[in-house]
Amino acid sequence: MMLNETGVITNEFWLDRWKTGRIGFHKEGVNPRLMDYWADLPKGSQVLVPLCGKSNDMIWLAEQGYQVTGVELSSLAVVQFLGDNDLVYSTHQEGDLKIHTVEGLSLRIVEGDFFSFTETGFDACYDRAAMVAMPADRRAEYVSHTLSLLTASAFVLLISLRYDGDNQGPPFSVTHEEIGQMWGDKIQKIASEDLVQTNTQYKDQGYGFFEESIWHIVPA
Ligand SMILES: C[S@@+](CC[C@H](N)C(=O)[O-])C[C@H]1O[C@@H](n2cnc3c(N)ncnc32)[C@H](O)[C@@H]1O
Repeated sequence: MMLNETGVITNEFWLDRWKTGRIGFHKEGVNPRLMDYWADLPKGSQVLVPLCGKSNDMIWLAEQGYQVTGVELSSLAVVQFLGDNDLVYSTHQEGDLKIHTVEGLSLRIVEGDFFSFTETGFDACYDRAAMVAMPADRRAEYVSHTLSLLTASAFVLLISLRYDGDNQGPPFSVTHEEIGQMWGDKIQKIASEDLVQTNTQYKDQGYGFFEESIWHIVPA
């Protein structure tokens, strides 16, 4: 693992995961939680997908009529996302970030460090495997940076994980208390499933429980 001297996961850790194809977090198809729990926002709403990987969820969001911006560190992830989906795109540089704008679909991929991305005014945010990818000492910073990019009345859909045993992520186990502290008192848990009960893979890996929870912040 690419850890620095204090044991923190570095950007090189993620770049190496992509280089060596260790991307078990990537799922083909669209996440059913997204389709079940996404809000019916006005067409044209600006949707932020932090730490987007090459998730097909971005295509689904763009097809719903939103203007989607994914932010991803790894150029390999970006190239694979654009290539796998046969997307035609143009690229320009803005400071440290490369902006890939897709033709014919309202979708941009910003390539670079999420913490260098400072565009504001997003109406919504979709966080799957992003907050739980952040090590404990950067997680609050990640959430406050994400919130700083959203409008005051933005919709947020978050998928979190909580499990027993060694918390040697990513993905990291994040407590419900921590989620409330980081995202604020408007965040609400709307569904939970213990994957140990429904998927033998988690039991086989020795977990007593492995809970996936869905949270949202809805505009007041
Ligand atoms: C666990 S993966 C999840 C990807 C995606 N959300 C999904 O559901 O498949 C986390 C992703 O965040 C990216 N990442 C990690 N740190 C980042 C950072 N500081 N800025 C941008 N992307 C980052 C990694 O390269 C990786 O693709």
